[in-house]
Amino acid sequence: MSIVVSGIRPTGNLHLGNYFGAMRNFVKMQNTDQCFFFIADYHSLTTHPTPQDLHGNVKSILVDYLAAGLDPEKSTLYLQSDVPEVLELYLFLNMNAYLGELERCTSFKDKARKQPDNVNAGLLTYPTLMAADIILHRAHKVPVGKDQEQHLEMTRTFANRFNRMYNVNYFPEPVAYNFGEELVKIPGLDGSTKMGKSEGEGNAIFLGDSPESIRKKIMRAVTDSGPVEPNQPKPQPIENIFTLMKVLSAPETYEHFNNLYNNCQIRYGDMKKQLAEDVICFNEPFRQRILELEKNDEYISKVVKMGAEKARESAAKTIREVREIVGFKRFF
Ligand code: TYM
Repeated sequence: MSIVVSGIRPTGNLHLGNYFGAMRNFVKMQNTDQCFFFIADYHSLTTHPTPQDLHGNVKSILVDYLAAGLDPEKSTLYLQSDVPEVLELYLFLNMNAYLGELERCTSFKDKARKQPDNVNAGLLTYPTLMAADIILHRAHKVPVGKDQEQHLEMTRTFANRFNRMYNVNYFPEPVAYNFGEELVKIPGLDGSTKMGKSEGEGNAIFLGDSPESIRKKIMRAVTDSGPVEPNQPKPQPIENIFTLMKVLSAPETYEHFNNLYNNCQIRYGDMKKQLAEDVICFNEPFRQRILELEKNDEYISKVVKMGAEKARESAAKTIREVREIVGFKRFF
């Protein structure tokens, strides 16, 4: 049995990218592995240091997690900030993480470009906190989307470096995991290559979106005037809606529209209508569960309390052992 850890930032609801990139895997893995899934609320401060409603954001991601099928009896579902042990491990890892490697991290460079007035130390050390999240439970597998690949590479570097520096074989090497397949990247509706919560209105479809909102977003998705020659490669925005269709519609539906594209007979309006209905059909059970769970604060707090206790037990053991390895001994 492997130990599995993964998380998500509470900066918006779960969208189809989160679901197909990560959540779908969590839900499968909880049946066979020892799983820890958490909400990275400390991490969200690196981009939103003064959140308007952090608690509300965390609650809506919790609801989405549960609606997507995470079972708190099978896996440990918790908030990062309920397990302060992670901060101690973060500190230990920061002592052995070098400025150059942190500055070279692509997500740091991207964020520094996007928020030039707030290039804070938390942003720079985002990968060490993420590594701490993962190795805190001595994880083997980390179900994530393709955008997290480099963070996982850095996690391995930090875990191996710790082992080497203290001459132990304590932390396993965690890998980004998607059942032996390529990591997934779900594209956005605005023609960009990634569906994301901070990419602007209309880019992402959320699991809780209503049918009307889904229809509206998909009908507005970026397309062009259509191919003029048969069997041409698809421009990025067109590739995007085909990718979404491949993931969400029946294989025959995809084939049908792909053939129309290759014969220059495609009508994007028809394709989008079909895609919208397929997405609505996929989303509906999630949306219903979200509406139910939102009303059940008592259940949510029970889940969070249980998760915090289980996660702290595992975290405290690691911290005890790490302190010993580094050389902290108690005088009293
Ligand atoms: P976050 O909150 O941006 O995204 C959560 C998960 O969803 C995946 N994802 C996608 N997958 C495919 N296509 C997309 N368009 C797409 N958009 C998002 C992400 O890859 C991720 O798996 N740094 C993490 C949070 C984190 C974490 C961790 C993850 C903090 N500590 C420890 C794993 C282990 C993040 O920002 O994910």
